[in-house]
Formats: sequence, C-alpha cells, structure tokens
Amino acid sequence: MVSLRGVTKRFEDVAAVDRLDLDIRDGEFLALLGPSGCGKTTTLRMIAGFEQPTEGEIFIGGSPVVGVPAHKREVNTVFQQYALFPHLDILDNVAYGLKQRGVGRKERRGLAAEALKLVHLVGRDHARPAQLSGGMQQRVALARALVLKPKVLLLDEPLGALDQKLRKAMQIELKRLQADVGITFIFVTHDQEEALAMADRIAVMDAGRIEQLAPPRELYDEPATPFVAGFIGDMSTVGGTLAGDAVELSGGLRVPLGRRLVEAANGAAVRVGLRPECATFRPAEGGPGNAEVATAMVLGDRLQVLARMGDGDEVLLRQPRAHGDAAVAALRPGDGLSVEFHPEVGLLLECAGAATAAPVVAPTPQEVAS
Ligand SMILES: Nc1ncnc2c1ncn2[C@@H]1O[C@H](COP(=O)(O)OP(=O)(O)O)[C@@H](O)[C@H]1O
Ligand SMILES: [Mg+2]
Repeated sequence: MVSLRGVTKRFEDVAAVDRLDLDIRDGEFLALLGPSGCGKTTTLRMIAGFEQPTEGEIFIGGSPVVGVPAHKREVNTVFQQYALFPHLDILDNVAYGLKQRGVGRKERRGLAAEALKLVHLVGRDHARPAQLSGGMQQRVALARALVLKPKVLLLDEPLGALDQKLRKAMQIELKRLQADVGITFIFVTHDQEEALAMADRIAVMDAGRIEQLAPPRELYDEPATPFVAGFIGDMSTVGGTLAGDAVELSGGLRVPLGRRLVEAANGAAVRVGLRPECATFRPAEGGPGNAEVATAMVLGDRLQVLARMGDGDEVLLRQPRAHGDAAVAALRPGDGLSVEFHPEVGLLLECAGAATAAPVVAPTPQEVAS
C-alpha cells in the first residue's frame, strides 16, 4: 500500500531520514517507533505530502507520489494537537472535509454521524470542541480523518496528550477501530509499550534509519541489533567471558547463550543481554549465594529484584509470585541470592575484541578426575 525506496530527507546538512526502504501492506497496522529526533515525524510528513524527500521514491497504492500535493494523496493525518475548529460544532467539524470536497449538506452530515458512531461518540453532535474532554476531542479528530475514507491513515503520536489510563483505553479502541474499518494505519510513537500493544509490525528507527522491521514478538525475542534489544522491553547487560555455549561471569555464574548478534572467540571478553524473565531467584541458603540483592520490590503479582553479580553488574529480574513465597517477598538489599538461569537466555551483544587467552576447551576426563 505504501512503499519508500531509498528515501532521504536532509535539513541543511542533517539527514533526518537516511536512505529508508519500507513496505507497508494493505490493511496493516504499522508502528514507527524510536527515540525523539530519530526521524519518525519527517517520514510520516513525506508520506502525507507535507515534506518532499531530498532523494528517493514514495509510492501509495502503487503510484509514485513525490511531487503530488498533500490534498491529492489518498491519506489523512491525525496529529497530537487535534486542531478542531472551535466555532464549529462536532458534527460540522467532522463534516468539514466533505464540505471542501463539495459533498451536499444532508449527505455529509449523515456520513459525519456515521463516523462519530465509529469512534463511539454519539449524542454530542452539537457540542463545541471546548465542551469535550481531551479524549473525546481526539475521537472527533479521528472521525474527521476517517470520514474521508482514506486508503491510509497517518497518526503522529495521537495519544500523546492523554493521561495514562485514557491512553491505554484508546490504544485498545484504536486497534479495534482499525480492524473494523480495514484501513492501513501508520502510527508514530516513541512509546514501545504503545507500539507493542497495537501494531501488527513495528519499524524500530534510530538516527534516520530502520534498525528492524518485525512483529512485536520477534522484536522482543529476536532483536537484530543491540539498539533494538535495548529499546524494546527491559534488558540488562553484564560482562563476562565466552566459554562455549555460555558466558561465564566473574564469580563463576554461567549464563547459557541463545542468540548471538556478534561473532566472538572462546575466552573473549563479551557483553550479554538478559531479559527480566531470564532466571528464577530465591534467598541463598547456607552460603552467600551467587548474587546479591541491590533492590527488591513486590509489584503486585510479581517480584522484582535488581541482582548484583560478582563484578558489580546489575541484572533486573522478575518472577511471578508463588503461593507461600513469603521468604522471597521479604528479600532486602544486601541479602544473598541464589539465581538460576533458564536455558538459552543470554543474548550475545558485544565482543570487546579477540581473546588474548588460549581458547577455552572442554576439560579432559583426566582433568575432571583430578
Ligand atoms: N523543518 C525542519 N528543519 C530542520 N530540522 C528538522 C526539521 N524537521 C525535523 N528536523 C530535524 O530532523 C530530525 C528528525 O526529526 P523528527 O522527524 O521530528 O523526529 P521524531 O519525530 O522521531 O522525533 C531531528 O534532528 C530534527 O531536529
Ligand atoms: Mg515526532
């Protein structure tokens, strides 16, 4: 439905968007996710036609659109600032675009009423925008865009002005709405939870480039780059030594490796990424354990500890609370901890360089016996 081919946008000498390739499917809910300043809005504005690329091609529904003015593209945009007309009532706000297109009064009011029903805003047709809450105003802005039946709806941080609770409710509604209308949504956000909650696929952007484009589960389980690994979900990193299919931390704790983003030789100093669910933990018994509690907290149904490893690296761990786990829930800073990693949990992120030590080889039976 939307394709970007080698799209670059330079402002002065800054490449806000840098040779971007992106294909968005018909009916897809795609999120553009990345830190502030990574080029999300610029990408969206080029698709909308508010900016022209410095280089590259953009296609909508198969047709090249570079040079086509915004109002002639089959896309509509919803912004964080909804910019409703304060002097018009809700129905006329929604019908405004249809009026511009020369649709008759009766027909456009009928279509506007339908669009308002779609966003669950009924009975407020004659209210002025200022009489509605922020969440309701954003629904009006959505209805105003949807009533024009665009092929693609572009949304730039549309929930950014709403409080947390309303935001969560609107995320679910937007997802439902998109499934109902079947329009392709391109949704910009810097909030990873928001992207994970709504999108079919997420394009993770950094410095004007797409680091990875994948469904939410894949981004979390199989991040392609250290940036994606760190940006999606919680991840701690610890330093250690590569030893076969594990990384040995100082103190002897072994992290079993799963995916590897870099090549590293045995014995190399490496860094490994760990998700909070990578291990189980309990108070150490009859000894110091293999880690120490830095902080511990009960998060309702889960327990969270920041575990300090042998050389001071800290790993955030979470586990569900179990019946009768009072001793675990009572963990305090400084307590000894027994941490047990699940299989293949370590993500090999970084290699500090080739090992100077001889490669680690498995001990011979004789060595084990001695
Ligand atoms: N009109 C502009 N003039 C100059 N620089 C701009 C302009 N618009 C955006 N930029 C720059 O381009 C980069 C990307 O901006 P933007 O696309 O707004 O990022 P995001 O939406 O991801 O926060 C930033 O460095 C920003 O300062
Ligand atoms: Mg932006």
